Amino acid sequence: MNFGNKNIWITGAASGMGRALAVGLSAYNVQLIISDRDEAGLHETTLLLAGSAPQARILVLDMGKSADILDAVDQVLAEFKTIHALYQFAGISQRSLVIETPLENERRIMEINFFGVITLAKAILPSMIASGGGQMAVTSSIVGKFGFPYRSSYSASKHAIHGYFESLRAENSKYNIRVSILIPGRVQTNISKFALDKQGNEYGKMDPGQANGITSEKAAKQILIGLKRERKEIHVGGKELLMLQIRRFVPALYYKLATRIKPV
Ligand SMILES: NC(=O)c1ccc[n+]([C@@H]2O[C@H](COP(=O)([O-])OP(=O)(O)OC[C@H]3O[C@@H](n4cnc5c(N)ncnc54)[C@H](OP(=O)(O)O)[C@@H]3O)[C@@H](O)[C@H]2O)c1
Repeated sequence: MNFGNKNIWITGAASGMGRALAVGLSAYNVQLIISDRDEAGLHETTLLLAGSAPQARILVLDMGKSADILDAVDQVLAEFKTIHALYQFAGISQRSLVIETPLENERRIMEINFFGVITLAKAILPSMIASGGGQMAVTSSIVGKFGFPYRSSYSASKHAIHGYFESLRAENSKYNIRVSILIPGRVQTNISKFALDKQGNEYGKMDPGQANGITSEKAAKQILIGLKRERKEIHVGGKELLMLQIRRFVPALYYKLATRIKPV
């Protein structure tokens, strides 16, 4: 992927990895469309963009509201004609056990992390195909590759991303649609602070594991390299990524380790 002169839409761009990637991409000659539910955070993001970047277009968008997503796509396509790349980061996490999590929390997580993501991708896809192709990146997680305590619906929503976007890739690679699935381990962001607890409230704390993770800036560098190379999976993080190999090659060890995770 050559980023120059491309229209690139990033969701979840008001903080964390989405913001850091927007900042990283602003060093290229790109037109950014940055969306998030957090308007103030989006304005803060624009202050961090490289001086030479064209003004980013801010779009306040709640990924839990499909009708709003479709309206936003109409608006963006009317304004920019083509989206060359769509990088989706918006998402929420979970900090509660299966036994205590009400179904409404599980539906909310699926609505944002899965249905919101596919609604946006599906709405952009025909225009991407019509313009000769494009790149899509969606953010899974290492727990999109294995289950993890206190993350049941979150993990399920990320597993669903793999099934969906591998299928989307298989169907559309002939139209030059390139799909990258981002698989972060632990990155120091607000993701655990805004995770849903068993009451559906914000968990409000940064997990110790996450606090020891790589920075968003380092994550964005890894992501940029992977996107440039159009990697089908982009692993993002530090030594915790070893769990991916353990799950794949020594599943018995993973089963044992997974039951020993301490309550957060
Ligand atoms: N950090 C990690 O260790 C880690 C690991 C694996 C996967 N991930 C994934 O990476 C992605 C980016 O997260 P991050 O770590 O960079 O955390 P983050 O800083 O919390 O970024 C997530 C962004 O998504 C926004 N968002 C949440 N719900 C939304 C909604 N309904 N509509 C629109 N925007 C919404 C958040 O806005 P608010 O600030 O208003 O909540 C926030 O700006 C997520 O999909 C996450 O699941 C993160």
